[in-house]
Amino acid sequence: MSIFRKKSVTQAIGDAKKGDTSHLMKVLGVRDLTSLGIAAIIGAGIFSTIGRASFNGGPAVSLLFVFTAIACVFTALSYAQFASTVPVSGSAYTYAYVSFGEIFAWVIGWALILEYAVSNMVVAISWSEYFTSMLSGFGIKFPGWLATDYGSAHRAFEQVQAARPAATALPQNVLALATAYENAPNLGGLKIIMDLPAGLITVLITALVYVGIKESRNASNLLVVLKLCVIVLVIAVGVFYIKPDNWSPFAPNGVSGVLSGVASVFFAFIGFDSISTTAEECQNPQRDLPRAMIYCLVICTILYVLITLVLTGMVNFKELGVDDPLAYVFQKLNLNFMAGIISVSAVVAITSALLAYQLGQPRIWMTMSRDGLLWPKFSEIHPKFKTPAFATIITGLVVAIPSLFLDMQFFIDLTSVGTFFAFILVCGGILYLDAKGISEYSKFRVPYVNGKFLVGIGFILAFGYILYAGDWLATMEEKPLLFVFWATWAVLSVLAFQNNFSLLPILGILTNLYLMTELGITNWAIFLIWLVIGLVIYFSYGFRKSKLAGQ
Ligand code: ALA
Repeated sequence: MSIFRKKSVTQAIGDAKKGDTSHLMKVLGVRDLTSLGIAAIIGAGIFSTIGRASFNGGPAVSLLFVFTAIACVFTALSYAQFASTVPVSGSAYTYAYVSFGEIFAWVIGWALILEYAVSNMVVAISWSEYFTSMLSGFGIKFPGWLATDYGSAHRAFEQVQAARPAATALPQNVLALATAYENAPNLGGLKIIMDLPAGLITVLITALVYVGIKESRNASNLLVVLKLCVIVLVIAVGVFYIKPDNWSPFAPNGVSGVLSGVASVFFAFIGFDSISTTAEECQNPQRDLPRAMIYCLVICTILYVLITLVLTGMVNFKELGVDDPLAYVFQKLNLNFMAGIISVSAVVAITSALLAYQLGQPRIWMTMSRDGLLWPKFSEIHPKFKTPAFATIITGLVVAIPSLFLDMQFFIDLTSVGTFFAFILVCGGILYLDAKGISEYSKFRVPYVNGKFLVGIGFILAFGYILYAGDWLATMEEKPLLFVFWATWAVLSVLAFQNNFSLLPILGILTNLYLMTELGITNWAIFLIWLVIGLVIYFSYGFRKSKLAGQ
């Protein structure tokens, strides 16, 4: 059927070389790529959302970081193989195009908007939080109603009303938001509340991305060095303030407490894959992209696990339910100077994450447009700056406008579901490349371990254990998504037996899928709605206009 029409690997590479987009500058080496990867990975996650994850899960969240990192390593290996086989800008979108066909490619491209544009809304909002708190550290008070969204302010206001007269006992941030709501000016009965810094930083970063990849690279490299120094400083100083008593109990709220942090922890890892979108601007993508992906993942995992251990060792986990946990723990121990350095550096760190995603999103749209699935304007390259200019501006608007008005919590889960989905398809794509013999041409291959028996034996042991150890029916009732996980594992066991599938991509699929089941059914439902909207757009435009139509 034509919705499953595929591109061959040579066609994908040939398309990238043709036309306007071949004018992109090939300036990125392995160090730049590793740096861009770190820029994308370390951001709002480690500076903000880690706090709530530790609050719910306790010190054991460090193990969740390890488990999530393992899922990401399997995925990174798969991305790396694809990037070395099809070194063009579309990332997972292009990989799906050559392995599963056009409709999957579209769906992935559509899901990647969640990973890049929607996650950047979170990043921009979190930037604004740190920025305004940094300003207040310097004694500058930014009006509250210009630094939050309507929903959060209104909720806080209602909370305060409900708690009266004892409202002052509410957390400080709730009181501040309620005050922002009260102080906001009225326009025709409507309160004007918006997150101006979030919108403005997005516009500024978009402007930088618009004027050039070199400028973006240089800015990114600089920001990353600063960011790493500060993270290392937090670990190096924090380690002297660890009280091992804080580590026990290690998992105060059990496994479920730890797993409730999946979205936040996974969010902190998202980004290692984003460097594959710069494939056409790399000097030697086939050699450098795989290396850089693994390097940045390993570096970030080590830093994350250490930071989590340091944080949960410095104070009791119950204190960590704040938005600026890294600065908070030092404040708590009266190390205000350190807390100040961290606030300033968080602003820097988050800026570089913002830059990485603003760079990635237009390049995916550019590739989709080149294939005819999006309007031609999206692949136009600026004659002077040599960047996908129109797509960059649209990315700026798509991120800046919602980040002015919307609440970030909702976007964290949505980003994670979409990204897990993309990761699973990329791991699955490797099985396809293997089955079709395309892997032979890959300059980098996921190390091959024959999964013929291992996948099935693993299934029998794991499922046997569940049957033996717990009330599996009750568990399934409580978490129906687990059914999808076990069913997928069963099917993969059979397919692996028939096709001698490679083990590591299968482990990538299963670990990502397992983590995805932890995100809850509402998030899956919202994601499905997102996909349906995407499919409507595909059938009204891309399906007819695709370059592969009529071939
Ligand atoms: N990993 C990125 C961050 O934490 C999305 O900001």
